[in-house]
Amino acid sequence: MIKTPIIMDVDTGIDDAIALTVALQAQSLDIKGITVVAGNQTIEKTLKNTLEVVEYLGRTDIPVAKGAAKPLVAPQIIAEETHGESGLGNAKLPAASIQPVEEDAVAFMRRVLEESSEKITLVPTGPLTNIALLLMAYPHVKEKIEKIVVMGGGAFEGNASATSEFNILVDPHAASVVFASGLPIVMCGLDVTMKAYTTKEDIQAVRDTGTKAGEFCADAFRHYYDMYTKYTRLPGCAVHDAVTIAYLLHPEMITVKPATVRVDIDGVHSYACTASDFRPWRDKSKDNALVCMDIDRQAFVKLIIDACKNY
Ligand code: RIB
Ligand code: CA
Repeated sequence: MIKTPIIMDVDTGIDDAIALTVALQAQSLDIKGITVVAGNQTIEKTLKNTLEVVEYLGRTDIPVAKGAAKPLVAPQIIAEETHGESGLGNAKLPAASIQPVEEDAVAFMRRVLEESSEKITLVPTGPLTNIALLLMAYPHVKEKIEKIVVMGGGAFEGNASATSEFNILVDPHAASVVFASGLPIVMCGLDVTMKAYTTKEDIQAVRDTGTKAGEFCADAFRHYYDMYTKYTRLPGCAVHDAVTIAYLLHPEMITVKPATVRVDIDGVHSYACTASDFRPWRDKSKDNALVCMDIDRQAFVKLIIDACKNY
């Protein structure tokens, strides 16, 4: 089987944990490492959560590296109400016995990319601080990056503000660097991720898998479901980050549109928006992204359930 080499960059949080649950059991992914960034919670908590999820799911073979504690320029914001005080909602995992590697996230990514005999896909599901630092400090590694499949942004939607999505808003300067890097981007933004939700029945089906992963994910979903049904019109909770893994495993599940996407770092009302140009008469030579617009939600939910069954 041809395996896709990836590095995940996470701010574990609830939906990051679901993305990890799907990714860590996928036979067609070769996970070279997981780097961690502050976002949903502080770096101490996102790192703790990531180590606990990796160990709980039996993948301590995958190195974890600690990354940025703060955005490049913007003041730090976290999403405590959405992801809870721990960052994993109601889920309680055993304390991890594993430690992160000695290298920081950027040094780790640089080394892995330099040493790799094949190009690696980066899969960030949090603020893009680590990715931007890597590209700014070591631009030569771009030749070893296949593409960037990012959960972030929204062509027509915002959640953290009227026009911006949380991961981009936390560190818009980093996002601007990444989207302007010249690397091919698959933007799994709110346009698709708000369609990738799990209902109460879906969450029960996750729990009914009867596995340790199913129990963990269902516990994590509980708080997330309450938040999403309280604040949005969704009949469930949007599993944003897992859409990146769904794209890698089953791209046919997702509808994409090419566009030129740039991040606004100067606007007031448009600050941190991912300005997406789909105009047929645009200069298509400047296109840098495939923007994900739709998803087969039933297939997506089945992917999560089937993943939980494999633990
Ligand atoms: O806007 C959703 C994104 O922000 C997801 O990555 C979620 O984990 C939070 O980081
Ligand atoms: Ca995330």
